[in-house]
Amino acid sequence: TAFDTVIRHGTIATASETYKADVGIWNGRIVAIGEALTDANETVDATGLLVLPGGIDSHVHIAQPSGPGIVMADDFESATRAAAFGGNTFVMPYCLQAKGQPIREALKNYHTLADQNCHIDHSFHLIIADPSEAVLGQELPALIADGYTSLKVFMTYEDLALSDLQILQVLAVARESGALVQVHAENYDAIRFLVDKLEHDGNVGPYFHAKSRPIVVEREATHRAISLAELVDVSMVVVHVSNRESMEEIRRAQQRGLTIHGETCPQYLVLTEEDLKDLGMEGAKYVCSPPPRDLASQQACWEGLQQGVFSLFSSDHCPFRYDDVQGKQPPNARTSFRWIPNGIPGVETRLPILFSEGVSKGRITLNQFVALTSTNHAKTYGLTRKGSIAIGNDADIALWDPKRQATLTQANLHHGADYTPYEGLEITGWPVATMLRGKFVTRDGKLVGGKVEGRYVSRAAPFPGKGATSTAA
Ligand code: URP
Ligand code: ZN
Ligand code: ZN
Ligand code: ZN
Repeated sequence: TAFDTVIRHGTIATASETYKADVGIWNGRIVAIGEALTDANETVDATGLLVLPGGIDSHVHIAQPSGPGIVMADDFESATRAAAFGGNTFVMPYCLQAKGQPIREALKNYHTLADQNCHIDHSFHLIIADPSEAVLGQELPALIADGYTSLKVFMTYEDLALSDLQILQVLAVARESGALVQVHAENYDAIRFLVDKLEHDGNVGPYFHAKSRPIVVEREATHRAISLAELVDVSMVVVHVSNRESMEEIRRAQQRGLTIHGETCPQYLVLTEEDLKDLGMEGAKYVCSPPPRDLASQQACWEGLQQGVFSLFSSDHCPFRYDDVQGKQPPNARTSFRWIPNGIPGVETRLPILFSEGVSKGRITLNQFVALTSTNHAKTYGLTRKGSIAIGNDADIALWDPKRQATLTQANLHHGADYTPYEGLEITGWPVATMLRGKFVTRDGKLVGGKVEGRYVSRAAPFPGKGATSTAA
């Protein structure tokens, strides 16, 4: 036989085209795209379905330490299972360096947790919490050469915030060694000032989390981060952008010729700070940073996606259980929002939300959807054989029923969290099957693949490469 599997009668969509054709798979790869492909061991009928590259979620947190007594709700098995049900075939979680810890040691721990425990493929971004001389001088260049080609720096959070000097030092190593730096842009001192003031005035409920991190705090840090990248002449990703002012900072940088990538997430399209407003603790279910804003900010994020200012749409999946002292309600959470762990689940709902609110409602095209959820992630982060239905690529495929109606509800999700912030959201368009390197992971609502199928993938240099000004955005 010519093929292990042929997907027949489906509609293929890439970042640029939509057309009807069959897909021939052999040995885990796409080896043919054409009409009336036959001679296969298995034929999958995709009549009425879309054949899309599996989603790549380049911003997820899995099994990441989140403070004393706090436990993330997903391990690699549950997170990648949920991701697969949500139409994904690749996730990029973080490897968090503890202060004083060699990054190799942190990586070893994450690999041990992930190996033989993933339903889909993965690689790691490195969170640089302690850019010591040894880290900057030896560890990072070696790790980048080994295929860990993306780093994340934080401008906020106790224990994570780096000074501008430290950020510049990390950016310089990234430029020298060919890595891409993601930045979490919020002004730490401004947030501390506001948290103290709110607590002093007795404003301690979950809603005040949003008030402690207003747009100006994000906009200023975004501007500063871009300025630091410009100074070093290196490209950068501004992650989880929530509002117009920050989006416009990125647009201006791109218009000046800087390679600044922008990312936004589902929470900034369909949630607002009003969701945090609850007399009890329910608002904690929506506590993430930056916080969801207002309807005008949602509109700005759509414009960012439509106009290409944002090239990446990720979940920022960071799951905690709501009804749990190790999750959203640690013992001191009622004394102040400051103790509520930041982050919300979303790896399973990212694609249905963008498909439904974006493609089905006519805000973006199907091709934009593919670019924003898969192709651009592969290109930006150096995955050479993923992110498109193309000959030679891994057969990482999601079959979508564009007409299928569903209501998002916790009861039907597969993540480790005990709630979804999107409870009740009506969806049109659903991923009915996912295939990793030619084998089904999920099919018709059932898990059919094993947890040992997902592999670690080492990444090539990011695209566009080095300089912030040497390549067009
Ligand atoms: O609140 C959030 N976003 N938690 C996840 C960690 C991060 O900053 O991305
Ligand atoms: Zn591994
Ligand atoms: Zn962040
Ligand atoms: Zn995050």
